[in-house]
Amino acid sequence: MSNLLNREQLKKKRDEYMISGMKQLYSDPPHFVRGQNQFLYDQEGNEYLDMFAGIVTVSVGHCNPKVLEATVKQLQTLQHTSTIFMTQPMVDLAEKLAQITPGDLSKSYITNSGTEANEAAIMMARTATGRHEVLVLKHSYHGQSHLASSLTANHNYRPSNMPAAGISFVENAYCYRCPFKKTPDNCSFECVKDVERVIQTQTSGQPAVMIAEPIQGVGGTITPPDGYFQEVKKVLDNYGVLFIADEVQTGFGRTGNHMFGISNWNVQPDFMTMAKGLGNGLPIGACITTKAVEAKCQRAVINTFGGNPVSAATGLAVINTIQEEKLMENAKVVGDYLMDGLKDLQKSFPIIGDVRGKGLMVGIEIAEPETKRPMAAECARIVETAKDLKVVIGKGGLYGNTIRIKPPLTITKHDVDRCLSAMRKGLESVCAVGASK
Ligand SMILES: Cc1ncc(COP(=O)(O)O)c(C=O)c1O
Repeated sequence: MSNLLNREQLKKKRDEYMISGMKQLYSDPPHFVRGQNQFLYDQEGNEYLDMFAGIVTVSVGHCNPKVLEATVKQLQTLQHTSTIFMTQPMVDLAEKLAQITPGDLSKSYITNSGTEANEAAIMMARTATGRHEVLVLKHSYHGQSHLASSLTANHNYRPSNMPAAGISFVENAYCYRCPFKKTPDNCSFECVKDVERVIQTQTSGQPAVMIAEPIQGVGGTITPPDGYFQEVKKVLDNYGVLFIADEVQTGFGRTGNHMFGISNWNVQPDFMTMAKGLGNGLPIGACITTKAVEAKCQRAVINTFGGNPVSAATGLAVINTIQEEKLMENAKVVGDYLMDGLKDLQKSFPIIGDVRGKGLMVGIEIAEPETKRPMAAECARIVETAKDLKVVIGKGGLYGNTIRIKPPLTITKHDVDRCLSAMRKGLESVCAVGASK
């Protein structure tokens, strides 16, 4: 590693050769060179606790030895054939996905990314129904192809020209900032009623499909209340609309109680799309649907890299590791501990407007206490302070004011204590600046 550039050299080279839209989380970024389990190491040898796992991707820890063994073994045996030749790892992975997903989901198409999995699901839903229109939740993020960015309801990531047609946006269940100004005490599920309103007023009355993240990730860990998806599904069923659960962030045990996020609402989707945590960092995605839907969308599919033996063997090893090491259970126990710690922190810092999420998918919204004005600059400062204390946390949300904690599922309560302590210091520094103004 002797030819490694120092931080300044790397930053300069990056600015010269990479597109400028590819933003960095930090204004003063470390140069990470190594990862091990829940830790990252920079070029100067500093250890960072990684509470963001890439972007919610390193599910079983950096360079997990069991997963690495499967990856390397496959790399040394057979790396590539493409989907026109028969190989076993992709089929083994598809079988495993059928076993761990709920209900009748059993026919898989393995892709290279979450974006591509969502593209595949929309295309299959349109083919199966013979319909075209798509419903999406506001504040959603579904990827970066032309279609997937058109399905994304966040101006930062939407197409800069002419989005794809036939997409209608529905109010989301954003209880902290309820679009209908309701509170949990007087909630009448206006957001569910909006699904029907949008079908009736913005579509032909016959949309093909609705796509939704069970918990909106990039949107800022927006977590619908109990009962929400059950009620939405009833509306969709009335209009013959299929349902895609985008599990790219919520999948593979992250929410603690279930392997997949949508099961927290006990809803059976027609499609699930997944990526991120499935590959633990290797490129992979998947779209799984029912036999009944798949039977109606027969069309030829080739994918050069989708389902390649290396990513497929890795994905299978990741799922086995999550199951064998009871990491979903760990996400529940450690996630609850984190949630309790954050709620305690909220008592001392009123600028913590909301703490939400499930398991190890947690969001903390930073806002002015009286007005709920989003405090994006302060949120960024907390994230930078945590980094200076060698703890990596993420941020996001439409207003850029939500801290996102989504670490490898392997973390311990001790790691949570370290994270909370760094956040406390970040909050103190922000509040001290505020007080001295
Ligand atoms: C919910 C969701 N869907 C889809 C995607 C797109 O996945 P990818 O970046 O693998 O294309 C993302 C990525 O952040 C995501 O969070």
